Amino acid sequence: MTLPAHPPRADLLLVHAGQLLTVPGGPSSRRGAAARELGVIEDGAFACRDGRVTWAGPTDEASAFSGPDTRILDAGDRLVMPGFVDPHTHPVFVGGREAEFALRASGATYQQIAEAGGGIASTVRTTRSAGRARLAASLRDHLSDMLRFGTTTLEAKSGYSLDRDGEIESLELLAEAALNCPQTIVPTFLGPHAVPPEFEGCPDDFISFLIEEVLPVVSSRKLAKFADIFCERNAFDTSQSDRFLRAAITSGLGVRIHADEFTSSGGAELAASLGAGSADHLLMASDKGVRALASSDTTAVLLPGTAFFLGLAFPNGRRFLDAGAAVALATDFNPGSCYCPSMPFILSTAVCRCGFTVEEAIVSATANSAACLGLGGVKGTLQSGADADFTIWDLDDYRGIPYHLSAPDIVSVHCASMPAWTRVDGRLDGR
Ligand code: NIG
Ligand code: FE
Repeated sequence: MTLPAHPPRADLLLVHAGQLLTVPGGPSSRRGAAARELGVIEDGAFACRDGRVTWAGPTDEASAFSGPDTRILDAGDRLVMPGFVDPHTHPVFVGGREAEFALRASGATYQQIAEAGGGIASTVRTTRSAGRARLAASLRDHLSDMLRFGTTTLEAKSGYSLDRDGEIESLELLAEAALNCPQTIVPTFLGPHAVPPEFEGCPDDFISFLIEEVLPVVSSRKLAKFADIFCERNAFDTSQSDRFLRAAITSGLGVRIHADEFTSSGGAELAASLGAGSADHLLMASDKGVRALASSDTTAVLLPGTAFFLGLAFPNGRRFLDAGAAVALATDFNPGSCYCPSMPFILSTAVCRCGFTVEEAIVSATANSAACLGLGGVKGTLQSGADADFTIWDLDDYRGIPYHLSAPDIVSVHCASMPAWTRVDGRLDGR
């Protein structure tokens, strides 16, 4: 490779990554063979300036970027890759649902519990009564749990207050957390997560209330990048979803949909027809829905942790990957259907149970998940021009990530080139 005569000096130079995964990414998700390209550089290095990657290549070319003020970070032959981008989480809530978890272990189903007044409604009760400070503290805890599993960017939904002030408060807390935590947070307004008690039996009226009373505030204060809806039997049907999401698009928001999770309702087709950023869950997506996604720019976000947690059949990744759809992976972190902040665990389930190759799982959790949030080429990749969000692993082979089931070997996590989390015994500068 020909280097410029006077390459810009780096403020951080990472050297001696045993394997550096640059994970090529761009505005659109990668599909087919391109969804298996990790851009591996053996004994890799990259240069950063002001929190961005300015160059990536072999370590023996890295000295050209070093100056007197350059901080050198020696990865000690370890694996280095982009931080995970988790494109579907629900971290703004107070209160666990351990009792329901135990009931399910004794045979009750998630939907039976919801129909008996538990489920999302029970977290709405504890979240509404918690107060702002406790809700903020709980959000902070959830974000730091995700950070230590290597998540440096996440999409985060409101949806556990379901009234105007509470939903606005949840989005305000996400904006405050974005200023105070190292990760990048993409906020999503999920007002129509469930029908609240004040609107029991009247989902159409609740949708009208959200469109008339809440969406204008969310939009004018730029509190969310996306809007989302739980399109499902006993939640909101496709025509209510269509009405809400079109109003969100008119207000300038992007949209995403909880689609075809327990029943096949046409959510995938609706997502594709609206140009949604993603259709998520999709356990029961019809063949027509899969084809609609494959011929659209809407990413299929699969959530194998939810299937694991609820004891459902795992999503079949091959159905979407082989059809040529854009595919991403997420935790769905939430108190009811998947209390899991760990992207490494999601990669393991995707590979062991959902038919992903290791390479497809990594691209789906980095470059593709960034693209479906409108951050393709900026997050989830370490190519030149990307944000320098990366993780250092005590591994010499990237296949160790899903292979080491539920025991992630992360040494340190860095956001905008600054250390954000370090394992207590982590030694970074040589061994
Ligand atoms: O994505 N499906 C709806 N929402 C969440 C579950 C929320 C809860 O049970 O609290 C999900 O799985
Ligand atoms: Fe969800």
